[in-house]
Amino acid sequence: MAQTARALDVRTEFAADVFAGLSKSGQKELPSKYLYDDIGSALFEVITLLPEYGLCRAEERLFERHATELVARLPGAVVVAELGSGTGKKTRRVLEALGRRQTTSYYPIDVSPAALLRCEREFSGLPSVKLAGLVSPYLDGLREVARRRPAGAPLLVLFMGSTIGNLERPVMEDFLRDVREQLAPGDGFLLSADLEKPVSQLLAAYDDSIGVTAAFNLNLLERINRELGGSFDVSRFRHEARWNDRERRIEMHLSSTCEQNVHIRRAGISAEFRTGETIWTECSHRFNCAEVVRLGQRSGFRCDTQWVDSEWPFAQSLLIAN
Ligand SMILES: C[S@@+](CC[C@H](N)C(=O)[O-])C[C@H]1O[C@@H](n2cnc3c(N)ncnc32)[C@H](O)[C@@H]1O
Repeated sequence: MAQTARALDVRTEFAADVFAGLSKSGQKELPSKYLYDDIGSALFEVITLLPEYGLCRAEERLFERHATELVARLPGAVVVAELGSGTGKKTRRVLEALGRRQTTSYYPIDVSPAALLRCEREFSGLPSVKLAGLVSPYLDGLREVARRRPAGAPLLVLFMGSTIGNLERPVMEDFLRDVREQLAPGDGFLLSADLEKPVSQLLAAYDDSIGVTAAFNLNLLERINRELGGSFDVSRFRHEARWNDRERRIEMHLSSTCEQNVHIRRAGISAEFRTGETIWTECSHRFNCAEVVRLGQRSGFRCDTQWVDSEWPFAQSLLIAN
């Protein structure tokens, strides 16, 4: 019953966001969180395996080298919360390292029920992990974890995969402050960020040769058709990855290949597209190490340690709440 009510809420919010994003007079846009329905989450898993997409392997290498050190830097029996956990595949090393000294309560938080289901399977054979998944937006989920944490138990929040880069720059600091508000002094926040690298490498990472990222992006239009009664003809849109030099980010767009009109019944909108007009669906910012430290400092943290992968420049920063 509660599940059905939540699904209805999600659909109502989806319809409202689609209406707002497609009725904009300038650049049309859709929030990137809607890329992750069951199909989108499965496609994202494939993206993490692509030769062009080095982020995930870089983070795995960092955990291979430093998970034990990370755990040694944390106090006693920590509770772990992960924002946008996906399947939690990479988190395994951290939880295994923690498991050598304690049983760990692990709260993966994600808007995708399918990803959380896979996450539960991933950890079902690990007796040192007590998992409680939360299908929820990041901050609502974190508030719930803060309510549930036993008094005095330190918290470690993970925000991996450079997912911070999906937020617009002015919003990042506010977001980190909101995270900090849910923490107690001394709690840890592991923040990962993909670092600047040649643009050609980044464009390939978001427009791979076999078209998985294109399918991931186009699936959003199919999701609108499935869930909101949309009339998108997906063959009339194409995936586009662009580098925005001023903002230092990759942008994913869906570009209309002709003049067309699309009706979305449950969102109550008819959207017109000119040839070449795009819907902006995701941004993925790039960072340098110093700005991640500054971002943490401005949001109420100090940076304890930063680990950097040199093969695919990528940083994990262990921030501690002041
Ligand atoms: C880029 S993927 C990263 C997945 C995983 N952390 C990793 O490092 O591979 C982003 C994840 O965050 C989830 N997500 C996106 N927006 C969200 C939001 N607003 N609240 C909660 N989860 C969200 C997606 O469903 C997806 O699993």
